[in-house]
Amino acid sequence: MLSRLIPFDRPRPPARGGALQTIYDAAATGWQDGISKLGFLAAYADLMQAAHAPPSQPRVLDVGTGTGAFAGAWVDAHGTPACLTLTDISPAMLDTASARLPQARTIVASVGKTPDDLPPQDVVLCAHVIEHLDDPNASLTWLFERVAPGGILILALSRPHWCTALVRWRWGNAAYTPEHARTMLAVAGFTDIALHPFTHGPPSRVSHGYIARRP
Ligand SMILES: C[S@@+](CC[C@H](N)C(=O)[O-])C[C@H]1O[C@@H](n2cnc3c(N)ncnc32)[C@H](O)[C@@H]1O
Repeated sequence: MLSRLIPFDRPRPPARGGALQTIYDAAATGWQDGISKLGFLAAYADLMQAAHAPPSQPRVLDVGTGTGAFAGAWVDAHGTPACLTLTDISPAMLDTASARLPQARTIVASVGKTPDDLPPQDVVLCAHVIEHLDDPNASLTWLFERVAPGGILILALSRPHWCTALVRWRWGNAAYTPEHARTMLAVAGFTDIALHPFTHGPPSRVSHGYIARRP
């Protein structure tokens, strides 16, 4: 019913206006505390535990890393990878991520722009990013191309809910039902698509985790 009233599957400009990068630069200082209080660090930790152990020297990329919370959850669950790369459009976010994960290489880059020297990765992480972008299908296809054959994508994606409507009012993010997300992941080429609902608190209402494989 709510989904009929609110076009959750399309992003809208953030209510406060301004470019997304400027808004996330301004949010960088309090971001990690904020998502921790809302329960996202615990939710991310649960999702990472659900991923099978990676190859012994994995290459891991976190796209739209923010303060590095999703990548940090990976490191806590599976250890420091052979190579960890964090990207974001917000230099301020990347500075906080770099302080938290000093072993990582950080790159200011947008989804769709591949650093020339970045090979396909064993694990690609992406939490709450593509719901900001105009073409989620193109974004998922780009993410698919970043994953090495046999590698995995671990995705956190906003889901429709009245709580998400409040988040969306501030941040402008879209939100996708599991059916919609599965279809988009399959069209991008992913297989073994598994939904991992978050079990507690705000993450259980506004988001879903997914793990999918590149064949
Ligand atoms: C909702 S935050 C999520 C941050 C982090 N992944 C987490 O879960 O805490 C979205 C992040 O995506 C970044 N972002 C937005 N548009 C992007 C784009 N086109 N390419 C890469 N990063 C982007 C923002 O700067 C911000 O850090």
